[in-house]
Amino acid sequence: MTGDPCPSLVQQVGQPGEVVVAERGADGLDAGEVLDVRLVACREVVRPVAAQLSVLLLWVQDAPAQENAKRAFERSLDRLGLDYLDLYLMHQPYGDVYGQWRAMEDLHRAGHIKAIGVSNFYPDRLVDLVENSETTPAVNQVETHPFFQRADYQSLMSERGVQIESWGPLAEGRNNIFSDPTLSAIGEGHGKSVAQMALRWLVQRGVVVIPKSVRPERMAENLDVFDFELTDEEMSRIAAMDTGVSVAFDHRDPEWVTRIGGVRID
Ligand SMILES: NC(=O)c1ccc[n+]([C@@H]2O[C@H](COP(=O)([O-])OP(=O)(O)OC[C@H]3O[C@@H](n4cnc5c(N)ncnc54)[C@H](OP(=O)(O)O)[C@@H]3O)[C@@H](O)[C@H]2O)c1
Repeated sequence: MTGDPCPSLVQQVGQPGEVVVAERGADGLDAGEVLDVRLVACREVVRPVAAQLSVLLLWVQDAPAQENAKRAFERSLDRLGLDYLDLYLMHQPYGDVYGQWRAMEDLHRAGHIKAIGVSNFYPDRLVDLVENSETTPAVNQVETHPFFQRADYQSLMSERGVQIESWGPLAEGRNNIFSDPTLSAIGEGHGKSVAQMALRWLVQRGVVVIPKSVRPERMAENLDVFDFELTDEEMSRIAAMDTGVSVAFDHRDPEWVTRIGGVRID
């Protein structure tokens, strides 16, 4: 596998058939939610196309300690039938974060992973990790979309050498995004869809996006955002949609820390 570990658009794989679209042109494969059963199901499909993909994201949430993190990594590789990953992310800033990170650094140094990163780290946790580690996370994957834009945080990440990557770039379909009047009106002017407006706006801001769809026609649509540009005025109109609030939940909420932090992927 070759190429930049941070392409600007990565397709989600959720079912074997979806990888076909990745073959056609996506820069990468996000296996973030391809949990055990689906990993096994995907294995034979992932293996032949993996050589064409430049990114693979996996969670280490099931790995609360350093030794377990390495075991989880090896198990994931085995399930995917691959011998190394381009990008490996820590899912949450919960549990033994430093134990997990040291394990990921070791795997990175040993050449088993090309780049390592984190997800759902808020500014305080990210800066603390950067300040106390040899390796700066290549990526921080956080909720980012027109309703929750995180421009200041993007600047901070950039200063610290961390690439922002958006999960939920289409706001997971919430807030009626697909009938949003601002995105619809701007899209009409370009002959593009609302989804394409949201994705183009993020890409143009320098945000890596990983839209998810189970429908091949939508995957193709979501990739088709590189043949036009939004004007400064259009960028500003979308910037004005920011509510500054997550449409999902706050990862610092104690209830969620217990709920998500307690999930184990066997
Ligand atoms: N790091 C984390 O904690 C975290 C958290 C959540 C999600 N993620 C990752 O982020 C990625 C995407 O996020 P997400 O799935 O939460 O949300 P998303 O990509 O913002 O939205 C997905 C939703 O939009 C629909 N959709 C996709 N393309 C569309 C289009 N062109 N037109 C109309 N509807 C469209 C999908 O429906 P159909 O599938 O029916 O097309 C689905 O309902 C996934 O890879 C996921 O694994 C990471």
